[in-house]
Amino acid sequence: MTAQPTDFSQLLNLFEMESLARQTLAPMARDYYISGAHDELTLRDNRQAFERLKLRYRVMVDVSQRSTATTVLDHQLSSPIMVAPTAFHRMASENGELDTARAAQSLGTVMTLSTLSNTPVEAVVEAAGQAPVWFQLYVYKDRGATQALVERAEAAGAKAVGVTGDAPLLGRRERDVRNGFRLPAGLEISNMTASGMGALPQESGESGLAAYFASLLDPALTWKDLDWLASITKLPVLVKGIVRADDAARAVRHGASGIVVSNHGGRQLDTSVATIDALPEVADAVRADVTVLLDGGIRRGTDVLKALALGAHGVLVGRPVLWGLATGGQAGVEHALGILNQELDLAMALAGTPTITDITRDLIFRH
Ligand code: GLV
Repeated sequence: MTAQPTDFSQLLNLFEMESLARQTLAPMARDYYISGAHDELTLRDNRQAFERLKLRYRVMVDVSQRSTATTVLDHQLSSPIMVAPTAFHRMASENGELDTARAAQSLGTVMTLSTLSNTPVEAVVEAAGQAPVWFQLYVYKDRGATQALVERAEAAGAKAVGVTGDAPLLGRRERDVRNGFRLPAGLEISNMTASGMGALPQESGESGLAAYFASLLDPALTWKDLDWLASITKLPVLVKGIVRADDAARAVRHGASGIVVSNHGGRQLDTSVATIDALPEVADAVRADVTVLLDGGIRRGTDVLKALALGAHGVLVGRPVLWGLATGGQAGVEHALGILNQELDLAMALAGTPTITDITRDLIFRH
């Protein structure tokens, strides 16, 4: 964690924030956040796929008035850029998820809270104030505990549940295996403490999180469990981790109100398709009926523009939020998301798209 306050005026983009965060974080936390699965090919391809796409911008459009405001899942937001669920924010800043929630509120966007949070959902919803908090759900073998978790999130004031479908087991992140990843003393999975599942096992030669998944989370999760989930909550349910049109359509048939095109930041099945490459088929299949979001590799405003052009209603940003936390807590997250939104605004001006609804697929160059 930073000893000196960070001079954010020196951090011009998210890559510079990442570089400082890497120097600041404890090695075990840094390695956990940066890792992808196995050879990290998907981790890299999530970025490279954005870099491969070229924009066909429009000229001579009046862009003197612009707005990044949009509506996602009935929330009026100042920006389509939202906070993705990532685990264990208190490894990056003292106040962890509370810093993230306060930053989401000051930016007028959604915060998605991970099941694997170091802060209880009630405190996070309170810190977020007017900002909607969505709750990312891992389904435990113990369905009673899972139901209690969903009910708790709903009672706390969460506005949606996003169930992760791409993690029947945890992907193998070799740095975490080498480090024997575990939580620093004093931190726990706060929402699960009451069910006796708040601690990670401490086994050497293994990631404690991988061991936790293998023993407690349910690898037997199927579409019928989505019906169950929709039946135990009044909240809209999103399914996260989808990269195929047929899975997206199935999710909608089983009650999903939204799809998150995601490969878990390249942390699960290595060599999976990059999310921006998977987006068009998913959007074509379900965008007319439900909300479509994307995460994975968003680092520039032009990436957001490309995702919206290819059919996303909004995007979720994961690791850059952690770089913000590590470099300056709430102010760092505000800086990271602020940079991205300013870059989106500039990209919209230069592409001839003054509002979010002007961003359409013809902006993407096809060979
Ligand atoms: C948790 O969701 C992780 O991917 O580490």
